[in-house]
Amino acid sequence: MSSFSCSSCGHSSPRWFGRCPECGAWSTATEPPQQRAGERLDLSVLAATTATPERIRTNVDELDRVLGGGIVPGAVVLLFGDPGAGKSTLATQLMAGVARDGRSALLISGEESPQQVALRAQRLDADLGDIRIASSRSLPAVISTATAERPDVLVVDSIQTLEDPRFDQSAGSVVQVRECAAALVAHAKASGTSMVLIGHVTKDGTVAGPRTLEHVVDVVLGLEGDRDHALRLLRATKNRFGPCDETGVFAMRKDGLHGVADPSSMLLEDRCDGVIGSCVFPGSQGSRPMLLEVQALVSRSEGGQPRRVAMGIEQRRLALLLGILSKSMRLKFGTDDVFVSVAGGIAVREPAADLALCLALHSAKHDLALPPKTVAIGEVGLGGEVRRVTNVERRLTEAHRLGFVRAFVPPGTERAPRGMRLHCVDHVGAALARLERVETAV
Ligand code: TYD
Ligand code: MG
Repeated sequence: MSSFSCSSCGHSSPRWFGRCPECGAWSTATEPPQQRAGERLDLSVLAATTATPERIRTNVDELDRVLGGGIVPGAVVLLFGDPGAGKSTLATQLMAGVARDGRSALLISGEESPQQVALRAQRLDADLGDIRIASSRSLPAVISTATAERPDVLVVDSIQTLEDPRFDQSAGSVVQVRECAAALVAHAKASGTSMVLIGHVTKDGTVAGPRTLEHVVDVVLGLEGDRDHALRLLRATKNRFGPCDETGVFAMRKDGLHGVADPSSMLLEDRCDGVIGSCVFPGSQGSRPMLLEVQALVSRSEGGQPRRVAMGIEQRRLALLLGILSKSMRLKFGTDDVFVSVAGGIAVREPAADLALCLALHSAKHDLALPPKTVAIGEVGLGGEVRRVTNVERRLTEAHRLGFVRAFVPPGTERAPRGMRLHCVDHVGAALARLERVETAV
């Protein structure tokens, strides 16, 4: 272990030196300060420590479910999403819900004036109790106000508008976002105030901002959805106090966000059987299955570079599946434009959707609709093999509930709901061959 270091260049050496062998400076050897004994820590017996914190219910049912029953006092929740996703709306509903139980809420709005916020609240027809609001962008002012007011829940909309005057950078820069969040987290822990920090992300989610905060907060919630569609998904990607695979489903209506009990029906409302390039995939969002329609369009390219456009599906996943179909099935898309999307503006991140996407691509390429009332589940490996995925039974039950009678599933799937026909396929080629047989039989 080195115990001396040069105060000029940082060179370290196990022995004292008069002249630094590295930079040649004299008398720069310094000994690191000795670690002093600190205070002894108070220990608790883990088994005797209560592990179920009391929670503040937000009375927005879908939100409470995702949080694991409500917000824990002193916890900091980061709520992020694209502009227009409905973050401010959800935060207003949350404050109204908290106020309904006689708790206090304080909103710091750096983006909107109190009048604008009041206008939104009117639309929601929410009972606002005595929710207080201030428009401010100054971190010290926010902390002093929160210290004096001691609200049960403090909402900051948004963290990118706050500024700590100790730093030169402008609001929204990585340094400001990080420092302001750190100060707020420290305040939350010291005072027991629960906080919701709202943050924007851009479409690709790459802008440094809220993402850099994920490790300092207790809970990270993402609100997803397309502005052109009503459906919104609220997903927990981190939760120190509850489940983190839970998903809340809302519909944005003219009077705010409403919980959706049966998202599958809502998503399949406009779907007709017999459409070319369409396949239904029973997705699994947290504890609830949700049927999604995967669509593909293949058309002759007008020249130039053929286009590959994926909406709601990762671009790389599409490229991979096209590669697999081309290599193991000789299904070539060479000069075709290929578009894929998920109806309803939902993003699918599960590899379990691979098989459905392959069937949709095959259908689009050959202008042949899938047999009616068919779903497909399965991850497709690089060799075209179909792999098992989680929750197959639950997915099939949901598909059956909505009237589907045929399912392409990974090998080893045994239990099917009564009246549902299973095709266990171990390779994407087997699925396509089976499909052709079914098509000729129909
Ligand atoms: P908003 O909550 O302001 O989004 P964010 O804070 O994430 O940027 O609202 C987003 C959109 O939702 C806005 O374009 C208007 C619409 N909206 C409704 O459709 N119904 C409503 O009741 C409200 C309040 C907003
Ligand atoms: Mg907003």
